[in-house]
Amino acid sequence: RKKVTIGTLRSLHKRGEPITMITAHDFPSAHVADHAGMDMILVGDSLAMVALGMEDTSEVLLEEMLLHCRSVARATKAAFTVGDLPMGSYEIAPAQALETAIRFIKEGRVQSVKLEGGKEMAPTIERITSAGIPVLGHVGLTPQRQNALGGFRVQGKTSEGAMKVLEDALAVQEAGCFAVVLEAVPAEVAAIVTQKLDIPTIGIGAGNGCSGQVLVQVDMTGNFPPGRFLPKFVKKYGDVWAESLKAIETYRDEVKSREYPAREHTYPIPKEELELFAE
Ligand code: KIV
Ligand code: NA
Repeated sequence: RKKVTIGTLRSLHKRGEPITMITAHDFPSAHVADHAGMDMILVGDSLAMVALGMEDTSEVLLEEMLLHCRSVARATKAAFTVGDLPMGSYEIAPAQALETAIRFIKEGRVQSVKLEGGKEMAPTIERITSAGIPVLGHVGLTPQRQNALGGFRVQGKTSEGAMKVLEDALAVQEAGCFAVVLEAVPAEVAAIVTQKLDIPTIGIGAGNGCSGQVLVQVDMTGNFPPGRFLPKFVKKYGDVWAESLKAIETYRDEVKSREYPAREHTYPIPKEELELFAE
């Protein structure tokens, strides 16, 4: 498979072919996503919850994001990689954001960065992109701002709300983003925003009128125990947790019953050598 570049994404968008994106947080999850032919792999700060067991994304540190980015980058041969700037690493000033973005490229070994926010982030996006680092925008529901938004709520459900989503998306486009994530926005609003933009929109909970889609890998592969809350937009394509559970339980049972390891799992020793040793 050929390496996906900014140019590849642009030509996918131009010919109306949906762009596929999925999250990965370590070497194996990136390896499988790359093999599956994903156009883009996002090291999302959702790894705070799905890989580190934290309550929300506000807890994950820059150094932790960089460690996960490096492991993803080592596994990714073809997909275009994006690192998610964690809360606190980019909001203070454009210079801080650029410094962080450079660390993602140099230490995280990803090819671009994502940051949350609309109009107010325009100078920051300009600063990062002017240094030659591609930026993926993220508007609509921005989970790092959940305390100000009053939780994880659908954005753009009123005409003013929808106008804010559109203005934010236009602003990050104008500032130089190569694409923008639209999260938890009514499908019709996301479709209109997509039509009004020149850059691709990557939807999550934003319907089928976007230029591409993204999902959290652990959610869509079903790599979590039964009963966990899943947002409405997630489609569970597999049951990885049940597969792992079955495998580990069977291993446990076979160790307890001495069924494992069998003869074929052991190393031989020549008979004479064994006799000498056993004497
Ligand atoms: O952190 C994440 O996984 C994300 C995607 C859901 C867009 O930001
Ligand atoms: Na994120």
